[in-house]
Amino acid sequence: VLDQRALPAEERWLRCERVEDVAEAIRSMAVRGAPAIGLAAAYGLALAARTGMQFEEAASLLLSTRPTAANLGWAIDRARAAGEDPLDFARSLETDQLEADTRLAELGAECMGRGERVLTHCNTGPLATGGYGTAGGVIRAAWEQGRLEQVWVDETRPLLQGARLTAWELGRLGIPYRVVADSAAGSLMNRGLVDRVVVGADRIAANGDVANKVGTYPLAVVAERHGVPFHVAAPVSTIDPDTPTGAEIPIEERDPSEVAAGLPALNPAFDVTPAELVTTIFTEAGVLEPPYDQSIARALGR
Ligand code: MRU
Repeated sequence: VLDQRALPAEERWLRCERVEDVAEAIRSMAVRGAPAIGLAAAYGLALAARTGMQFEEAASLLLSTRPTAANLGWAIDRARAAGEDPLDFARSLETDQLEADTRLAELGAECMGRGERVLTHCNTGPLATGGYGTAGGVIRAAWEQGRLEQVWVDETRPLLQGARLTAWELGRLGIPYRVVADSAAGSLMNRGLVDRVVVGADRIAANGDVANKVGTYPLAVVAERHGVPFHVAAPVSTIDPDTPTGAEIPIEERDPSEVAAGLPALNPAFDVTPAELVTTIFTEAGVLEPPYDQSIARALGR
């Protein structure tokens, strides 16, 4: 896996030979982003099978790494039910992810006008999905269709996924962007400089509440204050029908030293945006609109 901790300074590759290596890569965020975590776990299960480890032992090790991303448990459940060769399964999941990304990017971009200035948070491009990206994919498709003027990239405290990873991806694609401090979003909107917010998701509850990188919720609040549409882009695998509302989504707390080394600190890695602040959700199964309990149930074929 490409070690995302070293980017953008260095393109360093990590070799994972055992499921323990994959679990550590996920825990330490060498590989990160909800769909990419699910994919890495599927390949981890294939490594476990090769080294003779029991499926359930490998599954519980992987599940213990990061609690918020729905795609982790989803990929493991699918692998358990698939009953096929675990490596073939992991490869098919990767193909499916690319297809889902491509479709949701097309659907999301179609909702945009021309020459828009889009603000995004965290990193949701190919690094985060192993495919085309979620919100990052929508942004790329919009750029290719002439619908985008520029991207505002939230730096994304404390680990700087925006300033390090999204900026790196957009730069490689030649998409114009400017990095801003997370706390600048409100004043940018107040000055009329943001046409739309598009973010990813780590878990979407059955009622449409969205867990995503900490700092997403305040963005949704200021977007509503300024009448700026707030969209979530995610594959259906990020929707967890067994989590009724955002209140039941487990929020990962990471090492406080990531926020402030040597000081008393608290480091919730995600927050929950209530469904009522979400304009639409772009998925490969269609653009979901409120009331989300109904549109989500339809998307999941329930
Ligand atoms: O802690 P991270 O970097 O794994 O958090 C990632 C996010 O919050 C992304 O927005 C989310 O996983 C969607 S990725 C397509």
